Amino acid sequence: MKTAIGIGLLPHTAVRKTIILVVILVLCNFGSVKVEALSTLLPATEVQALREIATQIGKRDWNFDVDPCLNDSSHTSWATPKQLTGLYSTTLSLATAPSLMAHATYHIILRGQDLAGVLPPSIAKLPYLTLIDFTRNFLSGNIPSEWASTKLEYMSFNVNNLSGPIPTFLGNITTLQYLNLETNMFSGTVPPELGKLVHLQNLIISANNLTGVLPNSLTNLSKLAELRISSNNFIGRIPDYFKSWNQLKQLEIQGSGLQGPIPSSISVLSNLTELRISDLNGGGSVFPNLSSMTSLQRLMLRGCNLSGSIPDISAMTLLNILDLSFNKLEGSIPDLEDLALNKLQYLYLTSNLLNGSIPEWIKSTDNRYQVDVSYNNFSKSSEPSTCNEHLNVFKSSSVPNNSLSGACLDKFPCTEDQYSLHINCGGRETTIKGTKFEDDTDPGGGAEFVPVRPNWGVSSTGFFWDTDLTSKDYIANNVSELGMENSELYTNARLNPLSLTYYANCLGDGNYTVKLHFAEIIIRGNRSFYGVGRRIFDVYIQEKRMEGF
Ligand SMILES: *[C@@H]1O[C@H](CO)[C@@H](O)[C@H](O)[C@H]1NC(C)=O
Ligand SMILES: *[C@@H]1O[C@H](CO)[C@@H](O)[C@H](O)[C@H]1NC(C)=O
Ligand SMILES: *[C@@H]1O[C@H](CO)[C@@H](O)[C@H](O)[C@H]1NC(C)=O
Ligand SMILES: *[C@@H]1O[C@H](CO)[C@@H](O)[C@H](O)[C@H]1NC(C)=O
Ligand SMILES: *[C@@H]1O[C@H](CO)[C@@H](O)[C@H](O)[C@H]1NC(C)=O
Ligand SMILES: *[C@@H]1O[C@H](CO)[C@@H](O)[C@H](O)[C@H]1NC(C)=O
Ligand SMILES: *[C@@H]1O[C@H](CO)[C@@H](O)[C@H](O)[C@H]1NC(C)=O
Ligand SMILES: *[C@@H]1O[C@H](CO)[C@@H](O)[C@H](O)[C@H]1NC(C)=O
Ligand SMILES: *[C@@H]1O[C@H](CO)[C@@H](O)[C@H](O)[C@H]1NC(C)=O
Repeated sequence: MKTAIGIGLLPHTAVRKTIILVVILVLCNFGSVKVEALSTLLPATEVQALREIATQIGKRDWNFDVDPCLNDSSHTSWATPKQLTGLYSTTLSLATAPSLMAHATYHIILRGQDLAGVLPPSIAKLPYLTLIDFTRNFLSGNIPSEWASTKLEYMSFNVNNLSGPIPTFLGNITTLQYLNLETNMFSGTVPPELGKLVHLQNLIISANNLTGVLPNSLTNLSKLAELRISSNNFIGRIPDYFKSWNQLKQLEIQGSGLQGPIPSSISVLSNLTELRISDLNGGGSVFPNLSSMTSLQRLMLRGCNLSGSIPDISAMTLLNILDLSFNKLEGSIPDLEDLALNKLQYLYLTSNLLNGSIPEWIKSTDNRYQVDVSYNNFSKSSEPSTCNEHLNVFKSSSVPNNSLSGACLDKFPCTEDQYSLHINCGGRETTIKGTKFEDDTDPGGGAEFVPVRPNWGVSSTGFFWDTDLTSKDYIANNVSELGMENSELYTNARLNPLSLTYYANCLGDGNYTVKLHFAEIIIRGNRSFYGVGRRIFDVYIQEKRMEGF
């Protein structure tokens, strides 16, 4: 008998890939009608504050010979280079438009510059500063208490090296509308004082080391439009606060530590355009009632312990991505053909108990679509007769004796038993001390199942939710000199946001040792935002979870 070994790597939280944006900008934004009445020069006390800020934050190239408000093209040390203004507006569109003020208000935006100082206490000396954006730097320490008295409306420290508890005095900055602390190392609990930020529309605290329960006072954030709390160590059940948060447009609770089931009150969130919940331990439930969410464009309920069947969701006519993977959903796939003719392009039903036939419309989708129905219990006879690179049907039907089959494999019958297999994941054939590691350079993709050789293949699936990566990005290449032994094995690697499975076919009966070799080749160890980030994934062998990282 032939045995198949499947080794799966399943990331359970999104790993954000850092992208370099270089925008250097201090914007002097005068209230539209008053431009002529106001002086265009920044008061001396505020220039002095900027000097202090430059020292505190580690910014060396501001040119104080030029007034920061003389924002013309010859003084680019203060302003965004012209060609980057598009990026600047992108940033602003995340915030609500700051109200028109009679005073000059200004913004400090220093993104992607690897500034290695601290959050500058002297920010508090700029009375009309409303927006600070220090995204992608390497600032350390915590938020200074001097900021409690500011009138900031927008604060973003996304991807830095900030640590310590989220300070309670943030609750004093009641003007805040946008707060982004994502991808730092904040720890401890979310302070109840954040409930005082009643104007807050965006609260983004994903990818930290936060714990405890979400305080009840957050129910006072009735204007919340965006809430992201993924990749933390919260405890307890998902709080039942949705009736207070009924303005939410985007909700993300991925790998947060919180337990299921999903409260049924989620059904009140009729304004949602994006809903992402994943990796819930604890109690399961049936598919929640989402029938009011007719504006949804992106829906993920992954690993939420959902059972029962998939309801009719045909009213979600704007749906583009649907990920219901890693549940216990059963029954047949509902009729999504009209949605697919509309906007639905990405469909992930991976690892459920779905049965019946794989619908014809799925089998006839072209390469604009990515459909993954792998690991289900569909009827064998409904498997497509041809192997298709954007329709993953790996183990989509129940096969009684653990063998692999299907159109993608039938062209490779086993000829003889083998007793070992070595693969250079994502890289070229390499021989190390007499052992040949086979070539694995197929580019992979978002819903692909590639039988590479008669004796092994790779199933590569997942959609990159947080980046604009393309199909070329399912293989990563090293970005710096690798110092370890046998570095040829680590120069390339597969990147898969949902699941990566290597299966070995045609193996003779016996006991096998599985060795996985890992090295970090993207996140650098230097004092840089490139060095910030974590990878979190589980390893399955023969569909059993062996290890979580
Ligand atoms: C990041 O911040 C922590 C806490 O302030 C500090 O101990 C650590 O050295 C910083 N990391 C690096 C790489 O400098
Ligand atoms: C925040 O406000 C409270 C009272 O509203 C005050 O007691 C406290 O000192 C303020 N915190 C800071 C750091 O200014
Ligand atoms: C996260 O916080 C816990 C305490 O809540 C601590 O034990 C752990 O070391 C922290 N992890 C990191 C990576 O800082
Ligand atoms: C919400 O705000 C009101 C008014 O400030 C306050 O009385 C109430 O205690 C707050 N609710 C919670 C749960 O903190
Ligand atoms: C899969 O379907 C078969 C019938 O086609 C059924 O006998 C079996 O119990 C199903 N397996 C699971 C795990 O539901
Ligand atoms: C088990 O798989 C082999 C192919 O490897 C097939 O020939 C055989 O019929 C299968 N056994 C059953 C009971 O389906
Ligand atoms: C990794 O990448 C760098 C630069 O892209 C290159 O110089 C180096 O030789 C590569 N390979 C190894 C094994 O370090
Ligand atoms: C495989 O290992 C198990 C337990 O370790 C042992 O009982 C069995 O005999 C081994 N089988 C072979 C073929 O070596
Ligand atoms: C960190 O490493 C990256 C890539 O090698 C490099 O571009 C960047 O300048 C480095 N940053 C620092 C602060 O050393």
